[in-house]
Amino acid sequence: MTTTFITGANKGIGYETARQLIKLGHHVLLGARDPERGETAAAELGARFVEIDVSSQESVEAAAADVLTQEGSIDVLINNAGIPGPRVTSMLEVTAEHAERVMQTNFLGTLRTTRAFLPLLEKSQAPRIVNVSSSMGSFTRSVDPSTIEHANPLPFYQPSKAAINMLTLKYAEAYPRFRINIADPGPTDTDINNHMGTQSVAEGSEAIVHLATLTSEGPTGIFLSREGVVPW
Ligand SMILES: NC(=O)c1ccc[n+]([C@@H]2O[C@H](COP(=O)([O-])OP(=O)(O)OC[C@H]3O[C@@H](n4cnc5c(N)ncnc54)[C@H](OP(=O)(O)O)[C@@H]3O)[C@@H](O)[C@H]2O)c1
Repeated sequence: MTTTFITGANKGIGYETARQLIKLGHHVLLGARDPERGETAAAELGARFVEIDVSSQESVEAAAADVLTQEGSIDVLINNAGIPGPRVTSMLEVTAEHAERVMQTNFLGTLRTTRAFLPLLEKSQAPRIVNVSSSMGSFTRSVDPSTIEHANPLPFYQPSKAAINMLTLKYAEAYPRFRINIADPGPTDTDINNHMGTQSVAEGSEAIVHLATLTSEGPTGIFLSREGVVPW
């Protein structure tokens, strides 16, 4: 059986991804930072809850140790947990403290979780990592005034996702036996955007589920949405 660990899976796209992968036969380890919300979500779906706050090194290491003891290995890691950070109307409002919080969760959270779970993935015959990023991290889209990525009021969300994209490429190069890819859910109706997204969570999870179920012959180092390849 395929064992899949998902961060930030107590709600939104992570929760829906867990639901879909369980339906496909995966043993899902539902990562969440809040034990009550995590236990509730896991019980609803038939997953095992694992406490993980991706912004804490100690918490991430404890989660990896727990999975090592209970499961021994994983096949798929989905780095999904993310926060939007503050909305601003002017770049004059932004501070390093704002940036630190967003980068701590989105970028460093992805990095530290990947690092902690790599030894568990190494034991898999077909190891896969899906980093949940966003078209908001696309330089090509961001410089095009006709796109929603241009002049977006989330000054640190976009750099954090761009950094995840580059990090993914570095890991994909370093681990050629793995499939390590980036999923862009697209504008999805969840808490992160105050339910302004036009897509359902099922649609938002499509690219993630696709990349989580690739075979060893599948692509690595790609940036994919449900509509196809996203420009860098
Ligand atoms: N929705 C969209 O339109 C959209 C588009 C592109 C990309 N994305 C990406 O999709 C991913 C999922 O977002 P979503 O739309 O499903 O938003 P969401 O409903 O707000 O879910 C975010 C999840 O991340 C968790 N989380 C936040 N900080 C965490 C931390 N430090 N440690 C562990 N978990 C943490 C949240 O847990 P709590 O419940 O404890 O807060 C929640 O489970 C994010 O990476 C987001 O950037 C979303």
